[in-house]
Amino acid sequence: MKSSLTFFATIVAVSVLLFSVVPTNACEQSCRTGISLAFGDNYSKEVDKLFPTLSDDLKNHLVDGFSGSISSATKSSFNKIIDDETDKCKKAFTGNFAKLIEDSIFNQAPQFKGQCQHPLRVNQPPPGVAWTMDDCQNQDYICGNPPAVCHYMDQIVKPRNVKNVNESLKDRLSTNGSCYSSLIRSLIIAAAKSNIKASDLDSFATAIEKNVGQQYSTFTTLFEHEFCRGTTCDKYDHDIKVKLLSYP
Ligand SMILES: *[C@@H]1O[C@H](CO)[C@@H](O)[C@H](O)[C@H]1NC(C)=O
Ligand SMILES: *[C@@H]1O[C@H](CO)[C@@H](O)[C@H](O)[C@H]1NC(C)=O
Ligand SMILES: *[C@@H]1O[C@H](CO)[C@@H](O)[C@H](O)[C@H]1NC(C)=O
Repeated sequence: MKSSLTFFATIVAVSVLLFSVVPTNACEQSCRTGISLAFGDNYSKEVDKLFPTLSDDLKNHLVDGFSGSISSATKSSFNKIIDDETDKCKKAFTGNFAKLIEDSIFNQAPQFKGQCQHPLRVNQPPPGVAWTMDDCQNQDYICGNPPAVCHYMDQIVKPRNVKNVNESLKDRLSTNGSCYSSLIRSLIIAAAKSNIKASDLDSFATAIEKNVGQQYSTFTTLFEHEFCRGTTCDKYDHDIKVKLLSYP
């Protein structure tokens, strides 16, 4: 009786020990959110640098091919609408980065998910202690812990994030996207209230639809070439890795 009790107690003790020591080996929700926000915050700065080109080009080409007359006050009101709408569009775009990047890293294939014990490459640090850059180096296969995401940062994580950001902008700036319809609607409303002749409003609408579509398409191509081009985004690597390795 005594020995079976001791045996039972030992089992309990060993289980408690096991469950508390066995690493969870997963970038948990707080980690997924944190790392996605870190990427999102830093990448937004790169987007901020590119968007002025879009509003400038829209202003310069908005009424190309339109032969009606437009007063300078009306032109200024169009420019103001372009600034406001481009800003709104950019904010909606970057505001979705955390979600977009979380999906990119953790849901798209190959997924950073699953056990990291087979084989065990790194030992989970005690609570409150961060993983190290050595752990990042040593976790050389894909699984769910932060060092795995860190290890594949250049090879998989960053390119996939950039690709997803690219594609998201392309959707938003397509002629069936919200950034397009919202800008066109605001401009047409402003034109109707302006001194543009009523008989010119149809050709005005036709011209701006074509021009905005063209500028959005040109900007999408520019963005794909310029966003995080070459080593542009490498300056964020260190901060992002440190943040990532701080999660259990
Ligand atoms: C990246 O973003 C974080 C905030 O999430 C900021 O503290 C850090 O300075 C940024 N890194 C660079 C290189 O701008
Ligand atoms: C919007 O247009 C793009 C092509 O420009 C197409 O790939 C996409 O499926 C369209 N989306 C909707 C909701 O119609
Ligand atoms: C951005 O996405 C496009 C496809 O939409 C791709 O052709 C291009 O290479 C991407 N740029 C980068 C840096 O990944």
